[in-house]
Amino acid sequence: MSTDSVQSNTPRHVAIIMDGNGRWARKRLLPRIEGHRKGVKNVRNLLEALSTSPVRYLTLFAFSVENWQRPKEEVDALMDLLKQFLKRESRLLVRNRIRLEIIGGREELPEDVRQELDRVQRETSEFEDHVLTLALNYGSRTEVLDATRRIAQDLADGSLSEPPATWEEYRPYLYTGDMPDPDLIIRTSGEWRVSNFLLLQGAYAELYFCDIPWPEFTINHFNEALESYSRRERRFGRVSTSPVEV
Ligand code: IPE
Ligand code: IPE
Ligand code: MG
Repeated sequence: MSTDSVQSNTPRHVAIIMDGNGRWARKRLLPRIEGHRKGVKNVRNLLEALSTSPVRYLTLFAFSVENWQRPKEEVDALMDLLKQFLKRESRLLVRNRIRLEIIGGREELPEDVRQELDRVQRETSEFEDHVLTLALNYGSRTEVLDATRRIAQDLADGSLSEPPATWEEYRPYLYTGDMPDPDLIIRTSGEWRVSNFLLLQGAYAELYFCDIPWPEFTINHFNEALESYSRRERRFGRVSTSPVEV
């Protein structure tokens, strides 16, 4: 649970809203897809760093439920880039002992993407050191609806005797299952919003917004976010224990 990290200076779970690919490209008079291409390459750098990082869980918002509303050619290109990423980077995941997890509506993803996801998940399923979670076709509101539907089903078929009465009983129904809550949520490219991302799991997450567009976000920027996190006091509704500054 997130409250475990109350005394820790390093987040156990960092989630990133990788934003600004389109604007990065437009500024260079390139098609938006070139921004996505550069953005995907950037994920590789982060994964290399993850293997030696104290951050155990990294969750990346790669495609939202709302992103289907983009032009078809952009959606198709994004799905294609995702497939290429999985084909190319599965070796990196295996080499660095990173397990791949997925959150979001898997069924709506194209068949060839699902096949690649299945393959990489199979190949990395044993790894415990680090966990990369891709949020694909993800939206918190849909996640809540799915959880509610599954609870209703479990009640109907008798596998659950009473509706969950505590958060501990409810949270396994979310896509994130028993993964710890994000301690830190980073959003790149200057927007100060969370866009339907981990709304419940991030209830007590520290937020970090930076102006750098995702294609230019480096490991140094990532470390700056960790540094900012380390200086924060998380209180979870309690009273501050740090000395009063005068
Ligand atoms: C983030 O970059 C990637 C996805 C949402 C898939 P955007 O494509 O949202 O880039 P901007 O925000 O339009 O610049
Ligand atoms: C959030 O970015 C989704 C991802 C990063 C995958 P968007 O660019 O879709 O969010 P809005 O539309 O600016 O809120
Ligand atoms: Mg955007």
